Formats: sequence, C-alpha cells, structure tokens
Amino acid sequence: MKFFIDTANLAQIQEAHDLGILDGVTTNPTLMAKEGIKGEAAIMKHYEAICEMVEGDVSAEVLSTDFKTIVEEGKKLAAIHPNIVVKVPMIKDGVKAIKWFTENGIRTNCTLVFSAGQAILAAKAGAAYVSPFIGRIDDSNWDGVELIAQIAQIYSIQGFKTEILAASIRSALHIVKCAEVGADVCTCPVDSILGLLKHPLTDIGLAKFLEDAKKM
Ligand code: G3P
Repeated sequence: MKFFIDTANLAQIQEAHDLGILDGVTTNPTLMAKEGIKGEAAIMKHYEAICEMVEGDVSAEVLSTDFKTIVEEGKKLAAIHPNIVVKVPMIKDGVKAIKWFTENGIRTNCTLVFSAGQAILAAKAGAAYVSPFIGRIDDSNWDGVELIAQIAQIYSIQGFKTEILAASIRSALHIVKCAEVGADVCTCPVDSILGLLKHPLTDIGLAKFLEDAKKM
C-alpha cells in the first residue's frame, strides 16, 4: 500500500518525506486555502514546489464544474509537472472530463466518492485513482472501511485497474484497516502517519533497555 500525505503544508510534506515512506501528495481546495494560497499564479507555483519535494504523484484539484472548463483547467494543471494527477469531482461533467483526460493521456483522481456505484463509474471512465472519503462516511454513521472493502472486491472481480485511494483518514487505525481490506493508497494527515509509530509497550521496553544499557 502506498502512503500519500493529505496536505498542502510544505513543512508537513517535508516531515513525511524525511521519514522515507512518502509515495505522493493529495491536496484539495480546503487544504490549499488553509495555507493561504490565492490566485492562479500562486496555486501553480505551490503545486510546482510540492512536485519538486516528492517523487510520487501529486493530486491537484480542478475548481470548475462544467466539462469544458474542467478540461481547460486540468490541461493547465497537468502541464505543471509529469507527476500531477488531475483531481476531478464525482459529478456528471466530471465523469465526462475523466473520460476525456484518460483518452488524452492525462491521469485523474476521482474525488468526493461515497458509494460503490460512484467508484464503478470512476473506473469505467478510466480514473487512475478513486478517492472514497472514509472519515466523512463514518461521520454520517456508516462504515467507511466497509466501502473500501466493497470497492476492492468489485474492482478485483471486474478487473478494473483504477487504484483505490482511501481519503478522509482520521486515525492510524483507519490506515491499518484500509491496508487490511485492500486499499492501494492511503492519503493521511501527518499525525495519522506518525500515530502508526506509537505503542506504549515500545516506550516502556525502550526505557528499560536504555536503563539496562547503563549496566553494560
Ligand atoms: O482530500 C480529501 C479528504 O482527504 C478530505 O478529508 O478530513 O476533510 O474529510 P477530510
């Protein structure tokens, strides 16, 4: 399973990169706005900076919702760097645009996916990634990990090549559960990634070893 970081914060991207386990980055308009990135030139420059920091795929989201403008915007984003993956919302014009991008050699990440039906459509249109938002599904009292398992089963039976990118990850446990049910990628906040490190018995064991090392 690949590890992406879900942020537009350069310091956090660097922190995950320095850990040596980072395979890519996902962003969205909320995360970009949080970093104070405003205007087309600044947005383009920020994606360029991210692409220079990491070797893997970087998802850059379109801001329009009609086919023609999604395509125009996506072409500009894809031209920034070969690792840019154009993130397109799961709407009717979005599906049409994903199909257009697929036929024109531009890779896409279909975002805002909350059902198996939507994941089937994304795969049919040729999306490189599908992004089910598991934390938001949990928030609505359904089971986000269960959706990942269902999509993994459908894609395996049908032979779809689209990679399942589990998004809206809220904890280290989410990452473990997604790995268990066959997610291809988890995109996570840095805290959830660092949460994987933690176990009280590791801390207790290390304290004892360091104490005993003094007697060596
Ligand atoms: O990038 C999409 C997704 O990961 C957003 O997560 O925490 O806003 O539901 P969240």
